[in-house]
Amino acid sequence: MDTTWKLVMLSCLLLSFFASSSAQTCRGQRFFDNRQYASCTDLPALNCYLHWTYDQAAGTLDVAFRHTGTTDSRWSAWGLNPSGARMQGTQALVAFVNSSGVAQAFTTSIDTMSPSMQSSPLRFEVPSLSARFDNNEMTIFAVMRISDTWLSTSQVWQEGPVSNGQLGVHPFTAANLGSAGSVNFLTGQSGGSSSAGSRARRRNVHGVLNTVSWGILMPLGAITARYMKVFKSADPAWFYLHVACQTSAYAVGVAGWATGIRLGSDSPGVTHNPHRNIGIALFCLATLQVFALLLRPNKDHKYRLYWNIYHHSVGYTVIILSIINIFEGFDILQPEDHWERIFIGILIFLGVVATLLEAFTWYVVLRRKKKRSDKHPHSINGANGYGDRGQQV
Ligand SMILES: *[C@@H]1O[C@H](CO)[C@@H](O)[C@H](O)[C@H]1NC(C)=O
Repeated sequence: MDTTWKLVMLSCLLLSFFASSSAQTCRGQRFFDNRQYASCTDLPALNCYLHWTYDQAAGTLDVAFRHTGTTDSRWSAWGLNPSGARMQGTQALVAFVNSSGVAQAFTTSIDTMSPSMQSSPLRFEVPSLSARFDNNEMTIFAVMRISDTWLSTSQVWQEGPVSNGQLGVHPFTAANLGSAGSVNFLTGQSGGSSSAGSRARRRNVHGVLNTVSWGILMPLGAITARYMKVFKSADPAWFYLHVACQTSAYAVGVAGWATGIRLGSDSPGVTHNPHRNIGIALFCLATLQVFALLLRPNKDHKYRLYWNIYHHSVGYTVIILSIINIFEGFDILQPEDHWERIFIGILIFLGVVATLLEAFTWYVVLRRKKKRSDKHPHSINGANGYGDRGQQV
């Protein structure tokens, strides 16, 4: 009893410790020389914080941008962009740990979607600039001489890898694409951008629609067709189930596909070619399958065999390509790990079910065959069991 209470108290303590440390805000942050800033804000993505003091008389903005939970092999950047909450046009301060093991800061004006990340002057003066890296926190300190037009504008921040002293392209996770918003240095208002937020939402919708339709419903529909038709009593129910499953998968899948095309056209300069190309191929193949349904020859038509071969090969290709493309999508979106694990779990479950059903149907088919050949010992090769693999509906 005594130990139970101790355990409960200990876990409460631990929980509150984690809760308070994860609720850490810019207010609790300190600087190496105990310098103070008039205002601060928790930026809504990438564990970043902005502290500043605006001196109206001098026309200077003194800022400290802090990126926590990073490493010495990543760069951190923050900047202002009067043309909107986006990368192009950003007047950026960048910092990384250089080959001497020292935090180095420089300014760069980002004019293209594939910036060189080389030092270049900004549209305003930066009389003082430095950076510090400790405890996996990068902090950029700068004094910027800005005119009034820069006081209420958009801010953009970002982080990415550094290898051999070269600053690499930032990742394309939802957080890395949502790290932009507005800022007002006079009122202290700062926030995420609603357009970045809605894009993150659309990316999630895209992921869910496509995973459910192409990744789960379609394999389920194929399993229905392959394993239900062996039972004479399930004919023609399996056919309607299969058609219902695949047409709803197709409808949801096309909606998901359209969100993908829209995302692609809304993100100029960001192309995920393999994912996009496989997506387009999938749409064409799946549409072909819908026509296959309409152009299906009769069961005993002489072309039915060719139709079956075509329908099955396109069907299995669609399923394999869909699964590949969903994993490509996971790589791009980088949702929390458990989503990918859940999808892998569902795939394993479907695989196990399919394997068991495969074994079971072979057992049923062989037993039927045996029964028949016992009844008609001279027609072993002539008679087919119901649902023989060679007989297609
Ligand atoms: C690293 O950065 C420090 C501070 O900016 C600078 O003095 C030093 O020269 C840099 N080292 C290299 C190798 O660039």
